[in-house]
Order: sequence, then structure tokens, then C-alpha cells
Amino acid sequence: MSDANETLSNLAHENRTFAPSAEFAAQANAKADLYDQAEADRLGFWATQARGLDWETDFAEVLDWSNPPFAKWFVGGTLNVAYNCVDRHVHSGHGDQVAIRFEGEPGDQRNVTYRELLGEVSKAANALTALGITAGDRVVIYMPMIVEAVVAMLACARIGAPHSVVFAGFSAEALRSRIDDASAKLVITADGQNRRGNVMSLKPAVDEAVASCPSVNSVLVVKRCGNDVTWGEKDVWWHEFVESQSPEHTPQAFDSEHPLFILYTSGTTGKPKGILHTTGGYLTQVTYTHRNVFDLKPETDVFWCTADIGWVTGHSYIVYGPLANRATQVIYEGTPDAPAKDRWWDIVERHGVTILYTAPTAIRTFMKWGDEFPESHDLSSLRLLGSVGEPINPEAWIWYRRVIGGDRCPIIDTWWQTETGAMMISPLPGVTATKPGSAMRALPGIGVAIVDDAGSPLGNGSGGFLVLTEPWPAMLRGIWGDNQRFIDTYWSKWPQYYFAGDGAKFDDDGAIWLLGRVDDVMNVSGHRISTTEVESALVSHPSVAEAAVVGAADETTGQAIVAFVILRGGLEGADGTSLVATLRNHVATEIGPIAKPRQVMIVPELPKTRSGKILRRLLQDIAEHRSIGDSTTLADPAVMNLISAGLESSSTDD
Ligand code: WT7
Repeated sequence: MSDANETLSNLAHENRTFAPSAEFAAQANAKADLYDQAEADRLGFWATQARGLDWETDFAEVLDWSNPPFAKWFVGGTLNVAYNCVDRHVHSGHGDQVAIRFEGEPGDQRNVTYRELLGEVSKAANALTALGITAGDRVVIYMPMIVEAVVAMLACARIGAPHSVVFAGFSAEALRSRIDDASAKLVITADGQNRRGNVMSLKPAVDEAVASCPSVNSVLVVKRCGNDVTWGEKDVWWHEFVESQSPEHTPQAFDSEHPLFILYTSGTTGKPKGILHTTGGYLTQVTYTHRNVFDLKPETDVFWCTADIGWVTGHSYIVYGPLANRATQVIYEGTPDAPAKDRWWDIVERHGVTILYTAPTAIRTFMKWGDEFPESHDLSSLRLLGSVGEPINPEAWIWYRRVIGGDRCPIIDTWWQTETGAMMISPLPGVTATKPGSAMRALPGIGVAIVDDAGSPLGNGSGGFLVLTEPWPAMLRGIWGDNQRFIDTYWSKWPQYYFAGDGAKFDDDGAIWLLGRVDDVMNVSGHRISTTEVESALVSHPSVAEAAVVGAADETTGQAIVAFVILRGGLEGADGTSLVATLRNHVATEIGPIAKPRQVMIVPELPKTRSGKILRRLLQDIAEHRSIGDSTTLADPAVMNLISAGLESSSTDD
């Protein structure tokens, strides 16, 4: 390390800022005083946020932190999550407001009002009870992005049965291990889902998984595609069984700390962790962040979060946050390129979407496809754009703002995790002058620090480890069945802090820049350089659509930077040799000679997990000339062959 005060080198600089327009600021839900309120009385602030929900019994204490890291929020309070997301809107006279504007991939559409949603959720709750599910029983949901998936989650919440949603792209084995770990009694699924014009069947994976899971008593199956299914004695059709139930159901209030759901995070190594979330604190923070960060206006907005319900983003910002705030939202079943690469923009135009929340990986894909697809649609309904899931490169941010947001929409880059349950670091759209690529600062009520190895807080201009300094309402309450692993994973490096696993830096103005997972840090000649910064520098070159950077063992420098680059649409035939030299120099100019990649490899694709995270480990295998390791978590297993084949013909310089 060249400088003892600097844990991670602060190399890249970004001077552009974008303040909200006066019109946006004037109408915003969150004003600057929100920070002052939270600072003056943090727990009182959270109590106020919590009281925006309907509690059956008010809570007696805001936070019990007497047994860290096991928090209890809103102690003694009782409430029903489904009542808060559905019933109360009908009771307040908004039963006819559309809750969900569903669009299937083949083009089928269905609008569901809050009144209709109440009927559907009530029938499903009655069906679950009839199948023997009672409060505390675990239910696994393995479903496409269809209305019934939301109904199933709310029905579980309504009867106090924690759900565990498993992404429908996961294999039978991944499903089996999650059913088994949670000892689930019921699996809710569908016959199949529509993907890129084809029917992908889901039921066979469930059949295979359930065959070796004795805890499962029944399998409830939605008929989505009408594909052939094998029928067993545990199987029950949704359209027969749920539809025949009474649409009346009286919700019961549960303790604020009653388990709401388990969600397994993949993790790069080891068995998946079942992240446990509970009722009152979780609902408080997702509702608060959804209202203030998205600036949601229930009367006029059309909200669209493009995540899958299989990820935490879908839990917090499709199901619980939006519905608790009485949003009208779009749910789309399929892929962005079905039937053509303008499908999302077609949806935005036809549904009049005003708020769009998506991931950098999608944004960079659209950049790669070319501006003509968004430009062929009227996107003027949009008024706010959000990003989540990984650092967004300044270049992708600027493209998002210009091409999708017409230079008029604030962009909120929201940092959070499955474990945090809700957003933690983000601009407030009517308050913050944003910098492209920065998540800016902790939200009101949230405590964040960046620390060095010894756990000492760092100031502006330095980088280190991102930690959370105060318990927060939506925090995970543990890892299902493994409290020790909860302590070891998140609370052992510095016992007074929650360690998120991410590197981050404060720039000279105190804005927070996320630098990726700390294991994505390279050490070049004693400088710790973040892969994110080098990737951003590459993507800022006009010929680059996407980049992934790894550190490869190097005799001279310890590690050397190796970059894998996808070119923008239309440039596939470019002269590789001169482009490689140009890109290496470009990084040297943007960041400094220390960050100049030893090699730049031009590739057709990058290896990504199903949630869009780049598997740098596999690229490192290539960079270090090893045979390629375990690639079973890749979204597309063929990608590694594609990359290797392409490299034989591409130039690698030096
Ligand atoms: C990890 C959590 C949060 C829902 C989706 C991902 C990375 C997330 C950002 C952001 C930079 C981000 C972090 C974090 N991450 N949002 N705005 N900027 N990095 O949930 O699968 O639990 O992943 O995603 O590395 O730790 P997850």
C-alpha cells in the first residue's frame, strides 16, 4: 500500500452534477428537511414512518438492540402485511384503482384493480389454509412473472406463512436445496412460462425437486401456458382449487417480528444463505423508501420495476413497497427482446410508464443494441429513472439520462442488498444534485461509514470498506437455521458494524462511490485498484458497450489488469489491433498510467449470473491461462466457449 490512509486508491474523478429541476423539487414527496428530522431523532423518525402503516396494536418500543446483532423493531406492535398492501386501499375508497397492469410476453393483457386483488388474495389465503398451511409454515414459490405470483406472496403474508421465492430460472437441484433447507410444506408453481417466444416448462423441475423433499405435502399449479404436465397425487390446479374458494377472508394481525419471508442469496461460494426478513420493520422501510426515493404519486404515476420477483428487488419494489403505497404498476412476463429489441420502450409508451427502475446490466445491453430502439418510441411519460444491482458506470448513467430520460428525469442510483431488505444509499430525487455513477449518500435514518482495515472511519477523498453503523428497520434478522453464520458473515470483521462486503469511497465532496465487492479489488504494484473504476473508464470510450476487468497474476506488478471488452453495435468488424492500443491508452488517460490494462481482449459476451453479475472468477481463469472452473451458475453456460473461441482470433497486444 502506497499510502497507509488509503485502503482503496481513489483514482477516477467525475465532475458533472445534475440538480433536480425547480419543478421537480417543488412537487417532490421528500424535501431536504427529511435529513434534519432523521438526524434530530433517528428512532422517533422511524416511529413516524412506521405509523404511516395500519397497525392492529401500536408498538411500545421502536428498537430493542439489547442483543446485537439480533434486532427487534416496533416491539409489541401487530399488523397484517397483506391488509396494508391491499385491504386498506379498498377501505379508503380506492378499490377501482388499477394495482397491476399485467402484460404477458405473447401480448395478453390484464388489469387488476385493488378490489379484484383483494378478492384474489382472499381466495388464495383460503386455499392455503384449506391445504393445511398455518402461520409459521414455509411456502416455496417458483413462478413466472404473472399476477398469481404476487397473489401467492400476499396470500402467504396474509396468513403468516413465510414465503421463499425461488427464481424460476433456477434448476431442479437449486430448487430442491431451497425447499429442503426451509422444510417447506407447499410449493406454488406454474405449468410453464413464456420466454422469447417459446414455452419453458417449470413443472418438471418441481416434480424432480419434490420427489426428494418429504416435507412437501402439496403442489399448487397455475395454468399459464397450457403445456403438457405430469400430474401426481400432491398436485392441485390453481384455477380449480383457488377459484372455488370464498373471496372473503379476515386477516389476522401478526407480531412485528413475525417472519415474512426467506430469500436465498447465491453467494459466490458455499451453500446459499436463507436471508430472513420480518414484518413491521421491513414493511416500514420498503414503504418509506418507495414513496420518497421514487417520489411515488399514487393518483398519477405508473411505476415499473423490471426485476423478477425471484430477487429481493421484486419483493421490495414490486410487491410490498409499491402496493403498500397504493401504486399502479406494470408487470411484464418476458424478455426485453421479444418479439423485438424495443419491447420495453413499447411498454413504456403504451402504458404511460412514469417511473422506471432497472439494472445497469440492462442499461448497458440497450446501449449495445443501439439508440434506434428507444428512439422509435415516445418516452415522454417518464419522469424518474432508477438503477440497482451493481455500480452504474458514468457513461451508462449519462446514456440512460439522455436516451431514456430525455435529459429531464432525475436518476436515482440505489445501493442496497438482499440483506438490507430496502434501499440504504440513494439520492432523494427532489433534493440531491447527482453525480453520474454515484449513489451519493445514506438515506435519512440510515447510518453508513467507510472504514479502513482497522475499522477507523475514513473521510473525503479516501476509499475502504462500506459498513452500516446503526441497525435499520428492514435489516435481515438472521440466516435461516444458522445464527452463527449470520454473525460470522456480517458482524465479525468489526463487531460494532454490519460489513456489507463492498468497497466504497468518498469523493472530495463526500459523495459515496460504490466500488464493487471487495473481492473485486486488484493490487497492481501496491495500489489497490477497483475493477469498477477501470471498467467505467473503458465504457466511457465510444466504441465500448461493456467491459469486465480482472487482476491476473503478474511477475512484475503482483497483479496486472486484464480487460474483456464488448464493442458497441456495428463495430464488430473493427480493426482489433489498433482498437486495443487505443483502449489501453484511453484508460491511462482517464485514470492514470497505473490503471493501464496489460491486455485488452475483445469478446462477444461476458459470463454473467442470472441476476446479471459478472463472474470475474471465470475471466480470471482465462487471464491466467487456467482451465475454466465451475460455471454452473452462469445464465448461459455456452458463453465461456464463445469467449474462448473468439479469443483465438482476437489480438491481445503486448
Ligand atoms: C450487492 C447486493 C439490491 C438489490 C439487487 C442486488 C451490489 C447493489 C448497487 C448499486 C453498486 C450495488 C453490491 C451489493 N449493488 N446495488 N446501486 N451500486 N453496487 O441484491 O443480489 O443482494 O446484491 O449488489 O455489491 O452488495 P443482491
